[in-house]
Amino acid sequence: MRGAAKDSAIPTQLPGHNALLMGTDWYPEQWPGSRWDTELGMMEAAHLNVIRIGEFAWSRMEPSEGHFDFAWLDRAIALAGKHHIAVVLGTPTAAPPAWLTLKYPDTLRMDTEGRRVSHGNRAHFNVTSQRYRTFCRTIAAEMAKRYGHDPTVIGWQIDNEYGYAQMSYDDDARKQFQDWLQVDHKTLEALNQEWTTSYWSETYDAWSEIPIPWIPHNPGLMLDWRRFVSYAYTSYEENQMNVIRQLADPRQFITGNFMGYGFDGFDHFTVAHPLTFASWDDYVGSGHLDPDVNGMSHDAMRGLKRENFWVIETQPGFVNWSNLNNSLNKGEVRAMAWHDVGHGADEVSYWQWRSALNGQEEMHGTLVGPDGEPEPLLSEVTQTAQEFAQTQSVFRGTRPVSEVALLHDYESRWAVNWQVHTQRYDENSVLRGYYHALRKLAQSIDIVNPAAPLDSYKLVVAPSLNLIPKDRAAHLIEYVKNGGHLVLGPRSGMKDEYNALLPLRQPGYLIEPLGGRVEQFYALERDVPLSGTLGSGTATIWAEQLKTLAPDAEVLLRYGASNGWLDGQPAIITHSFGKGRITYVGAVLEPSLMSTLADWLVKSSGVTPALGPVPEGIEVNRRVGPDGAVFVLINFSPERQTVALPRSMKVILSPPIQSESPAVCQPGVSQPAAPPDSCPAETSQIELPRYGVSILLDAAKKIADLNADRR
Ligand code: GLA
Repeated sequence: MRGAAKDSAIPTQLPGHNALLMGTDWYPEQWPGSRWDTELGMMEAAHLNVIRIGEFAWSRMEPSEGHFDFAWLDRAIALAGKHHIAVVLGTPTAAPPAWLTLKYPDTLRMDTEGRRVSHGNRAHFNVTSQRYRTFCRTIAAEMAKRYGHDPTVIGWQIDNEYGYAQMSYDDDARKQFQDWLQVDHKTLEALNQEWTTSYWSETYDAWSEIPIPWIPHNPGLMLDWRRFVSYAYTSYEENQMNVIRQLADPRQFITGNFMGYGFDGFDHFTVAHPLTFASWDDYVGSGHLDPDVNGMSHDAMRGLKRENFWVIETQPGFVNWSNLNNSLNKGEVRAMAWHDVGHGADEVSYWQWRSALNGQEEMHGTLVGPDGEPEPLLSEVTQTAQEFAQTQSVFRGTRPVSEVALLHDYESRWAVNWQVHTQRYDENSVLRGYYHALRKLAQSIDIVNPAAPLDSYKLVVAPSLNLIPKDRAAHLIEYVKNGGHLVLGPRSGMKDEYNALLPLRQPGYLIEPLGGRVEQFYALERDVPLSGTLGSGTATIWAEQLKTLAPDAEVLLRYGASNGWLDGQPAIITHSFGKGRITYVGAVLEPSLMSTLADWLVKSSGVTPALGPVPEGIEVNRRVGPDGAVFVLINFSPERQTVALPRSMKVILSPPIQSESPAVCQPGVSQPAAPPDSCPAETSQIELPRYGVSILLDAAKKIADLNADRR
């Protein structure tokens, strides 16, 4: 078994610190220094052990050009240390000071109408401005010189949410794009051919003729522009990272805060690549936590580096920017924090500690009110932070391990969204449909890039992999030949790396191993019945008419009466190839048929559930390490639930049978405490009230056993 074995050092778990951390995002520059000791004392009392600071404080650090004032930050960091709180320093480049942008207007982004954006919001900088990058490098260097060896500072966050991928449309940015294209395509002749520019007179005779696309353009140009956006933000980030790495202790990590699965402004795999680990900002917004929607984002963020991650911001009850800024229910914030950990988070940090008295986010949820007194939520966060500290030792060296992978490709996602063909087709919900059905059965899923090593997975599902160039096809074929089961969803294998149609039917270079192909695709006006050996149900939104070519290719479902073209034709085909199998699903399936398909996929691929059957609404999460598997079970259903475990497990944290209040049964090393009397040492059944959390250690399943179970 290759691929799954990783060394046990997990970059998100820092030597000398608890394996699980809980913290908050704090802005000392917004408060008089006389208050800081009190605020940090309150954080310490709440068992918070990490703060992120500084990411918007450039005007305080460099009040005028070249004049730095770090005395205040020295003091804030020293006080944090005094209260045993570790510090993550944010570089403040998401909010350049007024003196900078006014004196050097080219550091401001230019919009598509040729206007520079105005100062006073954030992310108004010009990511491609070399002058701006010089200022960023200088402030990062000054910070790293000062804090790169500070024992209280554990790491760095570059910028804040990477400018939401916004670009500047000025002449210099355009020239940089043209130069970047030249490196990639080498000759104009090649570019013209790869983009098929002999179309609407798009042929370019000089690199300088190539525009920045901000309206629908040639698909090749659009894809290359997005690649350039990803490159621009990566080089912007590396510009700061390189100087920090030169000046700071190697023990200090460097991370960035992404925004989950939903945001696709750049290719996150590219931007995350140089970081020590990925972090993300996890907000529910309106409504309540949907464990699948949020879990999918966690798994996608974990997939960026195929490693645990941090939730460096999350909502303390409610936000200020959604349509309805309702609060999460009592108990839900705690359940959400454990759900984060279950999916691989090793830190959870609340944005923010206390609201500035003025500024654009006055109404956002906080842990402390404007009067400096605790908000009602702080007691729940304190309890959770205490539980993190008490149970952390069982999580050391553990990470989620899955037998099923979903392939997520930003380029395919953009390609489909630019020519969506029916407004009802949504890449996000197609992926979520597969995620929802498969997670329920497998209880653990990885979401990875198609180029990732796949050989540790029993089942690899590409819900909508539009771009399958030759090298990607070769990688997938290798996986199948070696015994994997590859499932391709609708719109797969249509295009090459330049977003051009392949001169083949779908799925292109996978036609031969599939033993079949797509004859034609159809945007559906209405649902179409499906039936066959797999069962019956309906196709919705999108349907592809398939055809078997190999005599041993099997048809699992056929379309019923529809537009005439589809009637009676194959909708799902499967074919064994090498030691493995390829299945092509030509239609978007409604949820119950998707469950039927997922059931067949899991069974036919030999996927074993992480735990086993649980009642509806119980979320199972499993992290595996050298001492066994740690299960985090959470009840997101409104009713109290009883879960029968497949074998007896050690209780680490559980609501005692009669009471709603949880008990830590297996204390961690950092905060020894006698197990409460109500805690059984072992159990084979647990009861969970709504938002109840149970943590169990299954010593029978160590990482080595799990690896042996796999292919
Ligand atoms: C983002 C930002 C934070 C803050 C929160 C509010 O994630 O990174 O600075 O504005 O949103 O929800």
